[in-house]
Amino acid sequence: MSSCLETSPRPKPGASQMLLSLAMSVLLSACGGGAETAVDPEIAAAANRAQGNRVLVGDRAELGQRIFTDDNLSEPRGTACAACHQANMGFAGNHGGRDGVAVGSRPASVGLRNAMTNSYLGLVPTPLTFVTANGETEAVGGLFWDGRADSAELQALGPLLNPLEMNNPSRQSVVDKIAASAYAQLFRQEFGNTIFANTDAAFNAIGLAIAAFERARLQPFSSKYDAMVRGETTLNQTEARGMALFMDPAKGNCVACHLMNPASGKPADSPFSEFTFYANGIPRNPAIPKNSDPAFFDLGLCGPERTPPSLPSTVMPGLTIENFCGKFRMPTLRNVAERPAFMHNGFFKDLPTVLRFYSTRNSNPQFWYGQALSNDLPAKYLDNVEVVKAPFNRPAASGPALSEPDINAIVAFLRTLSDGYRARPP
Ligand code: HEC
Ligand code: HEC
Repeated sequence: MSSCLETSPRPKPGASQMLLSLAMSVLLSACGGGAETAVDPEIAAAANRAQGNRVLVGDRAELGQRIFTDDNLSEPRGTACAACHQANMGFAGNHGGRDGVAVGSRPASVGLRNAMTNSYLGLVPTPLTFVTANGETEAVGGLFWDGRADSAELQALGPLLNPLEMNNPSRQSVVDKIAASAYAQLFRQEFGNTIFANTDAAFNAIGLAIAAFERARLQPFSSKYDAMVRGETTLNQTEARGMALFMDPAKGNCVACHLMNPASGKPADSPFSEFTFYANGIPRNPAIPKNSDPAFFDLGLCGPERTPPSLPSTVMPGLTIENFCGKFRMPTLRNVAERPAFMHNGFFKDLPTVLRFYSTRNSNPQFWYGQALSNDLPAKYLDNVEVVKAPFNRPAASGPALSEPDINAIVAFLRTLSDGYRARPP
């Protein structure tokens, strides 16, 4: 399927602006980190030089891709970013883990969450904010299932040192590996000849390069859906029926959260996520080691992988952070059919089962939970489970929202969101 990695970045008018913001975020990340040393002036200079010089945009994305796919950057070696974010799995995948959650560079290091797709990362608004409109406050954006990373530049640095992921002991050890790599010269060319002399600056520059790669090469808009939006092809009958069900407020109603606009003519108007946070009531995944403790719960925005964010004064009266516990950030559905596991805890392994859950969570909770109420939240947060938007607003007595043929049609439609579509020659 996807040939996203081979898609070369097309320089866009916004490219120099993007570099400016990249340069700013090096400065920000250096300033925001407290103990970190100031940014190497050469990084800022290189970023400035690059403004208006679009060839360097390609070079930086190329460098980022070399780092992203470098097997040597883990301890022990063998686990690249791409091990958990595989091009042929919609930039998700769990490094071969079959329990729905990621396995790190050491076989015993099984994480808490499903590797989140990196497809179309550039569409995710960052950092996390709380937006109040129409009498409602919603959490929006930020990277990771719990929105804890404020930018792609910063996010990229986390896995390198996370013991459950790439497990490097220090920034220095990562920088040493890059300095000894086949692309060390490309790194110097981008960030200055003395870059490797300053560990913190070099480490931060890794984030710049990876983010450039993610923004330039992970959003090709080359799916059948995109071709349809551009007027270059039409969906077949089943796919078209699936799209109608996806958009029908009385059926899937998926579009109420997974935003799209097929009529706009512009694929970028269809991110297939509003990047807000919900507690969908995903069943507990018993295969996650931490879940063997019945008192343990992954509460998303409320931790344990982050400190709960503080709410701004503009939220609706009476709301506290407790109202957001158990909520997770909605991913894009672009390339979703390529992923091996679904939802923050990887509980689901195939799309028809995801659809059956959406369809029957309310009418048959016993089937999903073995009990009447969600089994993966402490009692005090059960009220946070989404019950307003269809299909989650259905009274139990009204039965499933979707029939099996409906489900098959929606899955056929979801398959049209995979990149790498080639129209058959006439
Ligand atoms: C061992 C598996 C593993 C490796 C290796 C790994 N990741 Fe991840 N990645 C994950 C998991 C799991 C999550 C979700 C974590 C969470 O939400 O707490 C994630 C989330 C992300 C996200 C967030 C996507 C979004 O929409 O918010 C990005 C971006 C990302 N990873 C990039 C990278 C980069 C860059 C590297 C290499 C430097 C990397 N990952 C290495 C497992 C991995
Ligand atoms: C109320 C908002 C809402 C509606 C309506 C909704 N979703 Fe979602 N969807 C989410 C959220 C939030 C997540 C992530 C939840 C989590 O992991 O805890 C998600 C996750 C998913 C995933 C898993 C993606 C991944 O990478 O793991 C799929 C597939 C999906 N939705 C498909 C659909 C379909 C198809 C419909 C319509 C039948 C639909 N959704 C309706 C909010 C919604």
